[in-house]
Amino acid sequence: MTNANHYDRRTALRQLAGFLAASPFARAQLDSPYAATHVPPIEDLVNVFEFEPLCKAHIPKQNYDFIAGGVDNEWSLRHNREAFDKIRFRPRMLVDTSGLDVSTTLFGERIEMPILIAPTAGHGLANPEGELATARAAAQVKTIHILSTNSTHPLEKVAAASSFPKWFQLYPGPDVEGTRERVEKAVGAGFKLICVTVDAGWNSHRERLLRNRVRAQVPPGAAQPVTGARTRRQREYADAPPKPPPYRLATTLMHKLDWRFFDDLKKYAKTPVLIKGIMTAEDAELAVKHGADGIVVSNHGGRYLDYASATIEALPEVVKAVNGKMPVLVDSGFRRGTDILKALALGAKAVCVGRPPLWGLGAYGEAGVVRVLELLQSELALAMGLCGKPKLANVDRSILRM
Ligand SMILES: Cc1cc2nc3c(=O)[nH]c(=O)nc-3n(C[C@H](O)[C@H](O)[C@H](O)COP(=O)(O)O)c2cc1C
Repeated sequence: MTNANHYDRRTALRQLAGFLAASPFARAQLDSPYAATHVPPIEDLVNVFEFEPLCKAHIPKQNYDFIAGGVDNEWSLRHNREAFDKIRFRPRMLVDTSGLDVSTTLFGERIEMPILIAPTAGHGLANPEGELATARAAAQVKTIHILSTNSTHPLEKVAAASSFPKWFQLYPGPDVEGTRERVEKAVGAGFKLICVTVDAGWNSHRERLLRNRVRAQVPPGAAQPVTGARTRRQREYADAPPKPPPYRLATTLMHKLDWRFFDDLKKYAKTPVLIKGIMTAEDAELAVKHGADGIVVSNHGGRYLDYASATIEALPEVVKAVNGKMPVLVDSGFRRGTDILKALALGAKAVCVGRPPLWGLGAYGEAGVVRVLELLQSELALAMGLCGKPKLANVDRSILRM
């Protein structure tokens, strides 16, 4: 056909397809809970980043935004990743690395990798099985899942989901008595360690969430957050109409607490207590003084204070202040085995990952969480092997060029 204005069936279909792809209607279908989108076989994915777009395509937009988002300008969210680029390796050659081993022991628990699942709220936002699937996945790969206070499923159910040891993350609240009850309930259910988060005293300003017309919501079939007495924020999250309220400065019990709270917690917890959210030598020294059993260097994955430094930058001063008196863990932005090796070389005993297991869960359920952890484990082993450090005990700063 030579007529440029000719309008044939194929053109019409192409235009219709274009219209549908761009239409809010089609988008709404894609954003509907668990829309059936093309998901490649899990073994086709070669690194953990590749799970993120699949998770995004698979869950409602507002749920994805809850997982992905950081605070304000999201500078710390980005910088957590960028800071790894400034550190390079000094690999050693002609070392026998045939006995490569990434297993370790943490608070008496033998784990197959120095990589733990960070506590993250609402796994039901990614998959109705939520924390139950995550706990089973952690048990499969033999590592620790730290269950969030804001779990979608009741802590007792998560405790029973696998027989592998688990830890419980504590947000204090709604009051001092309720906090104690929550800890006793978790310890009673079998959680072996309490990880208290101290960097979230004020509600965060996450603009991705504020811009959405609907709130992140767990799908039918998943439970609501139910661990202990719920804070006002949790009640709002669970019961309110799905429109997010306008931002207002709001607090949690944490903003009123000081180290006396920690001293009390240490007395009644009857488990080791890990303190999560420490970013400075000064606070690390106080943690030592107040008898913490371990520290997690964390900026909450860039979700609370924007322009907080990257955790890989804060780690050395914390390690130095602790001076070997307790294990130092770190999280925020870890996506590669090489990232993990850099932290171990700077003195971390282990690393926690927050979003990557959620991407795995959103894209493939339990199997996705397993695969994300396996990929990180093998990337770490590879980096150790190529640096000439077959054992974690031999990993030190000498392999880094800062
Ligand atoms: C969706 C989401 C929910 C989170 N919920 C909690 C929580 O309930 N308690 C907590 O201590 N930290 C929470 N965090 C912070 C994580 O424990 C961890 O510090 C952070 O995710 C690490 O960064 P990464 O996601 O870049 O790995 C959450 C993080 C995300 C992404």
